[in-house]
Amino acid sequence: TSPFAPRHLLSIADLTPTELSTLVRTAASHKQSVKSGHVPPTITNALLGQTIALLFTKRSTRTRVSTEAAIALLQGHPMFLGSQDIQLGVNESLHDTSVVISSMVSALVARVDAHEDVVGLAKHSSVPVINALSDAFHPLQTIADFLTIHEAFPSASKSAASGSESGGGLGLEGLKIAWIGDANNVLFDLALGAAKLGVHLSVATPKGYEIPSAMRELITSTSPTAFLSETNTPEEAVKNADILVTDTWISMGQESSKAQRIKDFAGFQITKELAQRGGAKEGWRFMHCLPRKPEEVSDEVFYSPASLVFQEAENRLWAVLAVLEAFVVRKGKIV
Ligand code: CP
Ligand code: NVA
Repeated sequence: TSPFAPRHLLSIADLTPTELSTLVRTAASHKQSVKSGHVPPTITNALLGQTIALLFTKRSTRTRVSTEAAIALLQGHPMFLGSQDIQLGVNESLHDTSVVISSMVSALVARVDAHEDVVGLAKHSSVPVINALSDAFHPLQTIADFLTIHEAFPSASKSAASGSESGGGLGLEGLKIAWIGDANNVLFDLALGAAKLGVHLSVATPKGYEIPSAMRELITSTSPTAFLSETNTPEEAVKNADILVTDTWISMGQESSKAQRIKDFAGFQITKELAQRGGAKEGWRFMHCLPRKPEEVSDEVFYSPASLVFQEAENRLWAVLAVLEAFVVRKGKIV
């Protein structure tokens, strides 16, 4: 690689624990500043006159809106390119597309189907490529999720600020996340983040929907200590959990297996009864990356005071703002 090779963000695996914590802290600090009416001088005009290409082959609400809004805060120009707009691997190779687009813009934010597509874009791009969701990873979601957890569990974060900075410095050690549902892209990056931040993660999937073994290896090799447990029984995962998390059972591209999946995931809906039966911690909270379908979580939980979902969605803005600042403005220098 040349000394000018750009640094990409394709998954949480690309970040050290300290870098992940720093991105979360920066996101929190930008959130506070901008909301109180002060755009920090370090980001004012940071992307003035620069274009960021948004290559999206799938639909998006949060990722698109947050990324365009963050680019606007940096005074840059977001150029949205949907699958009907450009020749992304359809009538032109990924290689050629990446070389051409990256010669004209400051970064590519790409939402693709197969993870290898975003890897391919990164390989040939002369500017940073940010993964905006692939079938394997969703790093922008994970950063927003840990910002949300950092906000919702301030006492956990405080004790670490005064104590050791092990686990990357967010002080979330000891927290337990229970993931109930499908082992998918959102889970995989969340798991990598949990490994880096010393958070325990308990995953319950139906039989046949477990974390694929290569992915499990990547996740568990990320932490020297055991932090991940897996089960096919939701109650078991929920035990002593601080946070219950799920995502849709039918990710984009899996629509044809919808009926089968809904059958196979019976009993995995997150409800108050499940939290009680399983013995979630007093004061447990609920998270979901959205968009949400009713089958994976009851309305009672989703719209309850325990639910962090809309704060989590808003935090996508502050997460991508920190990522763009780090990877595009600061050229990959995060810490
Ligand atoms: N959570 C998330 O990535 O949402 P969108 O698909 O709407 O971007
Ligand atoms: N797992 C979902 C996440 C959407 C943000 C999907 O891939 O469709």
